[in-house]
Amino acid sequence: MHGKNVELDKVVMRFGGFTAVQQTSLEIRAGEFFSILGPSGCGKTTILRMVSGFIEPSEGRVRIGGDDMGGRGPARRPTALIFQNLALFPLMSNWENVAFGLEARGLDKRTRRERAYELLALVGLEGKEAQRPGALSGGQRQRVAIARALAVEPAVLLLDEPLSALDLKLRQYMRAELKAIQRKTGVTFIFITHDQGEALTMSDRIAVMRAGVVEQVGTTDEIYDRPATPFVATFVGENNVLSGTVAEADAAYARIETPLGPVRARNQDALAAGQRAMVFVRPERASLVNGHDLDNRLTGRFERRDLEGSYVNLFFTVGDQPFIVHEPNLDRQAALEGEVRLGFQADDAVAMRAGALDDA
Ligand SMILES: Nc1ncnc2c1ncn2[C@@H]1O[C@H](COP(=O)(O)OP(=O)(O)O)[C@@H](O)[C@H]1O
Ligand SMILES: [Mg+2]
Repeated sequence: MHGKNVELDKVVMRFGGFTAVQQTSLEIRAGEFFSILGPSGCGKTTILRMVSGFIEPSEGRVRIGGDDMGGRGPARRPTALIFQNLALFPLMSNWENVAFGLEARGLDKRTRRERAYELLALVGLEGKEAQRPGALSGGQRQRVAIARALAVEPAVLLLDEPLSALDLKLRQYMRAELKAIQRKTGVTFIFITHDQGEALTMSDRIAVMRAGVVEQVGTTDEIYDRPATPFVATFVGENNVLSGTVAEADAAYARIETPLGPVRARNQDALAAGQRAMVFVRPERASLVNGHDLDNRLTGRFERRDLEGSYVNLFFTVGDQPFIVHEPNLDRQAALEGEVRLGFQADDAVAMRAGALDDA
C-alpha cells in the first residue's frame, strides 16, 4: 500500500448562510499520521467529508496525489473512511466483514479470503478470522473495521473519532495499535479527534481548529511548545494565563502590565506598547521561588496539592484567578499554606495578542 498526499487549496464550506469551514489551505504529506484536533462543532468532520467526496467544497479544490478530486464521489477517490460507529455486519465472520468490499471488485472467493486473512494478521487478529465481531473485544472490533477499510487499498485512511466509543484503557492501548498499523502500511492517516492526548501521542503533525478556522498546523512539539494563538495555548495541554496591556516591547521580549504586577515574557506576536496581550506559562515551567532567581514573581494563596506520583500539582489563587504549578514530588511542599511566592523565567513564558481561549 502507498500513501498519497492530500492538498486543501483555499477550501471553503458553507451550509446555507453558515460557514462551517473558513478558507483553509494545507497539505497533508504522503504517509503521514495527521490529526485534526478541535472542540465539537469546529468543522473537523466537514473537512473529512470534503476529502472523502461526500460533500463538494463551496470554494477551492481538494487534490489527492496531485489529482483534482472535483466532481468525484467517494467510490472514485483513493480514500476509505472509518466512523465512530464501526458498522460491522454481526452475522458475518470477521474475515467476511473484511472481504466485503472486495466482492464488488470482481475478486473470486479464494482471493478475497486470502486477502482478508492477510489484513487480519496485519492488525493482529490472527486466529480470529472465523469468529464473528460479537465474540471480540471493542478494541478487536475496531481492528476488524480498520482491516476492512484497508482491504480496498486506500492511499488515504480517514478516521472520524474512532476511539471515542471505547473505554479509557482500551483507548490508550488502541493509540499505540493505530500508530503501529499506520507505520506498517505507509497509508496516509487523517485522524479526527477532540482529545488532545490522542493527537499528541499518535500524530506526526496536527492541525488545531476553532470555529471553522485552522489556527495552527505543526508537529506535536511545535503545537505544545510554540502555540500560535491563545486558543491553541489553552486547548492543548494546561496553561496559566495572565492578561494585561503591553508596557514596553522589543523584538525579543515584552513587559506586560497585569493586575498582578508587571510580567516579562517572549514577544511572539511582535507586540507593541499599548496593545492588549495574554501571557502563557505552562505549569511545568512555573515553580515555587524557594530561593530560585526568577525573572517573574507572583504571590499566590495556596489552595491544594494533588499528588500525581512523580510530580505534584499545586493549585494557587493569584489575584482572583487560578494558577497551577507542577513540581517534582520531593516532599518539600508538604507544609505549604497561606501566601506563597511563585514565579517563572521570561524565556518560559510567551506573550501574544489577546484572543479567544478554550472556554470548556
Ligand atoms: N449538512 C449540514 N448542514 C448544516 N450545517 C452543518 C452540516 N454539517 C455540519 N454542519 C455544521 O457545521 C459545523 C461543523 O460541523 P462538524 O464538521 O460536524 O464539526 P465537528 O466534526 O468538528 O464536531 C457545526 O456547526 C455543524 O452543525
Ligand atoms: Mg465530527
